[in-house]
Amino acid sequence: MHSKLKPLLSTYQQRLEQALAQRLPPAAEADQRLHEAMRYASLDGGKRVRAVLVYTTGAALGLPPEPLDGAACAVELIHAYSLVHDDLPAMDNDDLRRGKPTCHKAFDEATAILCGDALQTLAFELLASDASLQVDDNQRIRMIGELARASGSRGMAGGQAIDIAAAGTRLDLAALQGMHRYKTGALIRASIRLAAIAGRADEAQQQALDSYAEAIGLAFQIQDDILDVTADTATLGKPQGSDEAQDKPTYTSLLGLDGARQKAAALNEQAQQSLQGFAEEADPLRWLSAYIIERQH
Ligand code: IPE
Ligand code: IPE
Ligand code: MG
Ligand code: MG
Ligand code: MG
Repeated sequence: MHSKLKPLLSTYQQRLEQALAQRLPPAAEADQRLHEAMRYASLDGGKRVRAVLVYTTGAALGLPPEPLDGAACAVELIHAYSLVHDDLPAMDNDDLRRGKPTCHKAFDEATAILCGDALQTLAFELLASDASLQVDDNQRIRMIGELARASGSRGMAGGQAIDIAAAGTRLDLAALQGMHRYKTGALIRASIRLAAIAGRADEAQQQALDSYAEAIGLAFQIQDDILDVTADTATLGKPQGSDEAQDKPTYTSLLGLDGARQKAAALNEQAQQSLQGFAEEADPLRWLSAYIIERQH
């Protein structure tokens, strides 16, 4: 990891943690079990890569972090919801997430389903009305539309549907790439686009950021597939070997470990090239792309 990325990551991670803690309903408020589950599933864990992408894209466009807190929370809430549902018995049936029992294990399945539902709607509530966002109504509506599309059947939920349907089958490379683009790429792209909308990126900047997002979104899921094979459960904080156990089509199962690593490296190159038009304000985005393919959890 670039020496300057580490302190930056930890600053943004702490910032997000605080911002989220303030915006989630208090655990003492009824329904207490649901509110406890929402806080359990979204606080104190995760790398917060999507939030960091909001902040660092904003920084590349000259925005300070303060007006981005609502958007950063929104993308992490959608992500946390997707993980709660992803771990359910009907989906990946995993017991460990971010080093803790999964939400349906710590609570129960009904609570986990409702928790995911409520995290998702809170994300949109924040984009609609969070006081931190300094955007006009037009920007706000575009941000809501962007996150909605990225989360729905042509984004994360659609990718999850393909993932479930494809277990036990073999996808070709194009189909696998399409699945990854939807299930993981879409939300990563949306994180960057929300900041681009808030920061009023011009056409050329938007195109460059989209191309960057496309590359790192795919690279992120490829590295996730690699780590499912190479890492250990303690480091990952989630069960190693879950993909193989369920015969999921992954980059490693299709291309082998070396092939998957080569693809991830090529995508990092593509991401770096996409940012050529940006000056040093975009350095954190450059370091993040490199980090995404070297990360160990
Ligand atoms: C895991 O995402 C699920 C994928 C979409 C690959 P992360 O690796 O970002 O999980 P956390 O948020 O750090 O736990
Ligand atoms: C999940 O992909 C992507 C989501 C949209 C949640 P995985 O099923 O590979 O994520 P992990 O490995 O359980 O975190
Ligand atoms: Mg899954
Ligand atoms: Mg999973
Ligand atoms: Mg995985």
